[in-house]
Amino acid sequence: MPPSTLLYAALTALLGVASAVHKPHAFDWDSIRYVYAFGDSYTFVQGTAGHANFSFIGDALHFSFTVEQLLNNQIIPKNTSSEGSNWIEFLTGCLEGSPLDCKKELWNFAFAGSDIDGALLPLHHDFTIPLTNQVTQWLTYASKFIPHPASETLTAWWIGINDTGDTLGNASITDFKAFWATEMSSYFKAVQMAHDNGLRTHLFINVPAEDRSPSIVGDPTKSATMKAHLLGFNTILDQHISAFKATNADATIMTFDSNAWFNKVLDSPLQHGFTNITGFCTCAEPAGFFWYNAGHPTERVHRLLAKAIEAELRNPTICE
Ligand SMILES: *[C@@H]1O[C@H](CO)[C@@H](O)[C@H](O)[C@H]1NC(C)=O
Ligand SMILES: *[C@@H]1O[C@H](CO)[C@@H](O)[C@H](O)[C@H]1NC(C)=O
Ligand SMILES: *[C@@H]1O[C@H](CO)[C@@H](O)[C@H](O)[C@H]1NC(C)=O
Ligand SMILES: *[C@@H]1O[C@H](CO)[C@@H](O)[C@H](O)[C@H]1NC(C)=O
Ligand SMILES: *[C@@H]1O[C@H](CO)[C@@H](O)[C@H](O)[C@H]1NC(C)=O
Repeated sequence: MPPSTLLYAALTALLGVASAVHKPHAFDWDSIRYVYAFGDSYTFVQGTAGHANFSFIGDALHFSFTVEQLLNNQIIPKNTSSEGSNWIEFLTGCLEGSPLDCKKELWNFAFAGSDIDGALLPLHHDFTIPLTNQVTQWLTYASKFIPHPASETLTAWWIGINDTGDTLGNASITDFKAFWATEMSSYFKAVQMAHDNGLRTHLFINVPAEDRSPSIVGDPTKSATMKAHLLGFNTILDQHISAFKATNADATIMTFDSNAWFNKVLDSPLQHGFTNITGFCTCAEPAGFFWYNAGHPTERVHRLLAKAIEAELRNPTICE
């Protein structure tokens, strides 16, 4: 072998080792077979082993589960916070039955009404599992039993809707910037724990335009305050995503700006098939309605959102 070839071989070997250790893999949505999710009511799906209307599996009072309960658990179709399916079901195509039977297996630990951390904000119910504990639940009872090979696994994070909702009128918080920073440090401790245990490819979704939800939109003062809070939360979220990337070279990180997407659709409702964006219809066929109830969008919104997120995943901007 001529010396230049030897040198080349040595270099590629070196780079090969280096890239195995430090470099994130390129992202290919088609090769993803496992999707993990953490979040709140926008993301949760109903499982036969879950808390009715709140979770796929268990609750804070029934925190543990066996591998049999996990693997026998089935997604109950069209049982979400909309009148039908939700965005992560559309995105994965895992709409009902056992996740094991889906082409992209959806393992969903999101819990309706969840905040980031029960130590920072009160639980909505004694059975609520906040985001930090969702990760503990996955790690303790599921991570050994459901595969998560790096190149075939995506983890979706969507949280903060209840945090920003719950704190809107909280007078004891005098410095919201500081409060969001405290929340983020708790959030990213959980992300780090997931990451250190093998969930290396992350999709972070920010808080959507809740300032335009029916519960708030009619009150201009409240709506403006909410808008400012959302901007604060989402800005600090972005900073923490960058900081997480800086300290985790092996992370593949993507983001989806749901706030911008909600605003875009709400700004041109007719183009997207919506004739009512300020009221809601908690009914089986909320045709034309953006909102299903005062704080949750209809299935049609989830369907369009899934399409927009899939487009992003097929042509992703990977955070560097
Ligand atoms: C679940 O939610 C539906 C729709 O809001 C409601 O009709 C039903 O009573 C709830 N089920 C339970 C067990 O709370
Ligand atoms: C979801 O399923 C539960 C039973 O598991 C039922 O009580 C509830 O009414 C369903 N919710 C909706 C919105 O269909
Ligand atoms: C938060 O969670 C509760 C469920 O506990 C839900 O009813 C409420 O609409 C959610 N949204 C906001 C913005 O607080
Ligand atoms: C208001 O925020 C503080 C955190 O600064 C929290 O401890 C308290 O429980 C919150 N109050 C309510 C009613 O959520
Ligand atoms: C939207 O729906 C609400 C609730 O049904 C209704 O009161 C309102 O008039 C509707 N707005 C428009 C523009 O149709």
